This record gives sequence, C-alpha cells and structure tokens, in this order.
Amino acid sequence: MLTALTPQAPDKILALMAAFREDPRPGKIDLGVGVYKDASGLTPVMRAVKAAERQLVEEQDTKAYTGLAGDPAYADALSDLVLGDARPEGRLAAVATPGGTGAIRQGLELIRLATPEARVWMSNPTWPNHPAIVGYLGMPTASYRYFDDDTRGVDFDGMVEDLAGVAAGDAVILHGCCHNPTGANLTLDQWRTIADLLADRGAVPFVDIAYQGFGDGLEADAEATRLILQSVPEAIIAASCSKNFGIYRERTGLLMAMAPSADHLKVTQGAMASLNRLNFSFPPDHGARVVTMILTDDTLRADWAAELEEVRLGMLGLREALATALRDRVGSDRFGFLAAHRGMFSRLGATPEQVEAMRRDHGVYMVGDSRLNIAGLNAQTVPILADAIVAAGV
Ligand code: LMR
Repeated sequence: MLTALTPQAPDKILALMAAFREDPRPGKIDLGVGVYKDASGLTPVMRAVKAAERQLVEEQDTKAYTGLAGDPAYADALSDLVLGDARPEGRLAAVATPGGTGAIRQGLELIRLATPEARVWMSNPTWPNHPAIVGYLGMPTASYRYFDDDTRGVDFDGMVEDLAGVAAGDAVILHGCCHNPTGANLTLDQWRTIADLLADRGAVPFVDIAYQGFGDGLEADAEATRLILQSVPEAIIAASCSKNFGIYRERTGLLMAMAPSADHLKVTQGAMASLNRLNFSFPPDHGARVVTMILTDDTLRADWAAELEEVRLGMLGLREALATALRDRVGSDRFGFLAAHRGMFSRLGATPEQVEAMRRDHGVYMVGDSRLNIAGLNAQTVPILADAIVAAGV
C-alpha cells in the first residue's frame, strides 16, 4: 500500500526553513517563516504567558478532556478580543482548534459539509497553505486579484472586478489584517466596499485573522473583521494566537461561525464540534487555557498588550529603517512601500532569480515569491539586506 505513495509537493515556507538550517554561513539572515524574533534573534516566551503558565502549573488539578469545542471560557475570551462589540450575541458558534491552520481546515470542512459545490475564493497571492488545503479537500476554487506589482500596494480595482464574479453561497477567504504574503492592506473604506459587495451577492466571507496586534494595534487590526460581520448575515472566522501570544507550538486557534439566525446556532455549533471529533477529537487545551487566563486577568492582560505593542512598534521601526536604508542607496522612494506595509511580511517584488542571488551571495533567506519577514531583521542586518537588495538589482 505505501508503495503507491508519491512525493508530496513541499511547502515552500517549510522547505526554506530547512535550507536555512543547513546553511553553515555564520552571517546568514532568516527572513523566511513567519515567526517573531527579537533583536537578538530569539523568539521569546512572552512575560504574561510565562506568568500564566506558572500559575497554571500550581492551580491545575486535572488534565481530563475538555469538551469537543474546547473550554467555552476560551471561546468567550478570544471571540471578544477579535470581534469586540461586533460579536453577534446568540448567533456565534465557536470551537477551539489546533492553531490557526486547524481553524482554517475545520472552517473549510464546514463549508464543504454545508455546500459541497461552493467555490472558495482566495486572493492572488495568498498564504500557500490556503490553496493547498482547499485543493486537498477537493473544493472548487477561484482567485481574485490582490497585489499590484508596480505599486506594491493593493490592486483594489482588480479585486473588486474579480469579486464581482462571486455567486451566492461562495466563500471568500479574506486576510483580516496584515496580509500574508504581501503586507499590503485595504483601507477601512475599501473594506466597506468589499463587505457590501459580498453582502449584495450573498457570498460568505471567511476571515483569516492570524496577526491581530501586529499591524496598527489590537483594536485597529480587528476593525475590518468587525465591519464585515456587521454587513453580512453569515460569516466564518479563523483566529490564531500563535503570533500575538507567541505560542506557536501550542497550536491555539479558534474557529467561529456567525449563524444567520439564533435558530441556526445549535446545528452550526453541533456540526463544528462533530468535525472536531472526526478530525482530532478534543482540541489542545494548554495554549487556550493560558490565553484565557491572560485575557480574563487585568494585570496579565495589560502586560501582554504592552509587550505585544513593543513587538509591533519594533517591527514598524525596522520597516522605517529598511525603507530609509534603501532610499539612501537608490536615491528615490521606490521602496517606500516597505514602511507602508503592515504586519510581519512584505512582498519585495523581486524575481525568483534575484531572491536566489540574495541567498547565494549574501546568505539572505526570503520566500521565493520575495516575501520577507520583517521581524527576522535587526539594526545590524537592515544595512546588509539593503545592500543585498541593491546588489541583486531589485
Ligand atoms: C508563515 O506564513 O510563515 C506562517 O504562517 C507559518 C506557516 O505555518 O507557514
């Protein structure tokens, strides 16, 4: 049986992680996988996470199963963080999932369970695991224009034109903030247009929000998601705590579905819990419990929010520094988009050959589509990257 297996296409982000590890050069720079690193190159455990974990070790008296949906207190706390006042009381189904990817996978399965013929629309480009999972599930797909290669901003006209083709019941994956891989984001007015368009067509927004707090702040980053929820009768939201709580390996995500009416809540919640059961039974609890403790304790929450804000401002500073270093070298604002982008990533707009040259000649690792992880930089490596970009002729 196993002899029938053929090699699976490698995930390009994970393949890059491996290539970086194998490079013996001491000055190599990892701008690949989306993991936050501080100025010394470490991915620290956040202070509030450490404190909550210490408390948990003391207080936890059982590790018996939770429920299929995870702890309802976690769903309450995280849905409040993401949805705020837009949380549709009495209409929100939610289940804990293994990370944001788990939430996306479960959300897609929910769509397929409800309407197997629904098309799943994805931005071009998008996080490579979106099309990989959708393809694996055998769901019909469509893509909409998103990135303008010339301005390195959003091709909003193209996006609207393409999304005009959505049919009622189609699902449209939207990055709630900090678009991955481009770093280019919609303005709130543009979000309004998209929300109205989807509402008009009867399409179902599927918001992937994995970087809340990394762009313009915890509240600002959630505004688009909230606006969408207030514009449509039903929506799906996949949230991740990997990045904003720095608990990557704890696999802490939440799938939310806004039912069109209170009457549909029970069956929606039941379907989501059942999909959890079929795929992995009970969702992981440790990260979820830590997040719940932080969000429901004023002191821990304030400390977490303050540290997250430091992380965000640090990344903004690196964006500015890189844009300035490039302005100094090329004598124009051609790379000003790097300071305007938000979140962990920017798409540089380099060719695959230029990306390869930067890796070969300067030990700079970025994803082949020229996505770079801003958080992989520090004050010392910004000028090295700027030199590499110029030398590669980007
Ligand atoms: C990324 O885009 O680099 C992260 O979301 C990590 C991953 O799983 O790909």
